[in-house]
Amino acid sequence: MMPADGLDQIAGHDAILLGAVGWPGVPDHVSLWGLLIPIRRGFRQYVNLRPIRVMDGLPGPLRDSSGVDFVVVRENVEGEYSEIGGRINRGFPDEMAVQEAVFTRVGVTRVVDYALDLAAERRGLLTSATKSNGIVHTMPFWDEIVRERAEARDGIEWGQEHIDALVAKLVLRPADFDVIVASNLFGDILSDLAAAIAGSIGIAPAANLNPERDFPSMFEPVHGSAPDIAGRGIANPLGSMWAAAMMLDHLGEPSAARALMTAIEDTLATGTIRTPDLGGEATTDQFADAVIAAIPAVLT
Ligand SMILES: NC(=O)c1ccc[n+]([C@@H]2O[C@H](COP(=O)([O-])OP(=O)(O)OC[C@H]3O[C@@H](n4cnc5c(N)ncnc54)[C@H](O)[C@@H]3O)[C@@H](O)[C@H]2O)c1
Repeated sequence: MMPADGLDQIAGHDAILLGAVGWPGVPDHVSLWGLLIPIRRGFRQYVNLRPIRVMDGLPGPLRDSSGVDFVVVRENVEGEYSEIGGRINRGFPDEMAVQEAVFTRVGVTRVVDYALDLAAERRGLLTSATKSNGIVHTMPFWDEIVRERAEARDGIEWGQEHIDALVAKLVLRPADFDVIVASNLFGDILSDLAAAIAGSIGIAPAANLNPERDFPSMFEPVHGSAPDIAGRGIANPLGSMWAAAMMLDHLGEPSAARALMTAIEDTLATGTIRTPDLGGEATTDQFADAVIAAIPAVLT
């Protein structure tokens, strides 16, 4: 999936813009553990940021999706996606598999602090995704740290929701949420659900951040390589464009980021051009050209 010195080759860059990777026949865990996870972990990108916004002119699946604008802050390097565990007695009736979840005080604290900072810049609301009624060791630990950190802040309204109730509320009242902080597994699931709420998985972006900037951060669309439509020139480029806007922001170019986002929003708001996943007939190139054409208008 990657040359042995792959991380060294990109370590000196300012940022990484990643296209989706994958192909039928290559098991998901091979592409994930051979490329994405080594980059996230090797570069200590412990925050996975997934903004969700329903833009004007997008046909979302919900009856009322006005005002939907929230961010999922997913813990990105530990939690349920750990390498600790194993399988024994393969092929025998007593075959078994064990997978350990790893939650550290340092790991939980830093992602919760990041989410609190973000909430302070936004509407000041933080929701923590938990399941401490069923998962009796790691999740109460997560809850304790969230409480400690949140109570130490002024001006943040915070609460916690069990993940099962939270997914239901996200569908029923998505506009109520501002910043949601979640463990690796819960955040992964929440952000795909959230992308669907926004209309299509083809729209959603993600940033994998090393907030200390000791290593490059990585920006990517949430979607995979969409093999079912490969080669037809109809993939929605919006997720990649939005990821590029997040990258520009991170690189200290907020006005360029805003220009790109405004061009995307203006293009969608015309209601005349969109890719087939959003009910339109435009090709990837046609939609991208329309956004590019809208950029100069935004800048002047
Ligand atoms: N970050 C990544 O690189 C990443 C993420 C997820 C999956 N994958 C890989 O991608 C491959 C396919 O996975 P999958 O089918 O589960 O998920 P997928 O996201 O590729 O596709 C799911 C559905 O969404 C549609 N879709 C996805 N992106 C789209 C876009 N830009 N425009 C329009 N429609 C879009 C697809 O056509 C498909 O119907 C697998 O090999 C998987 O390992 C890679």
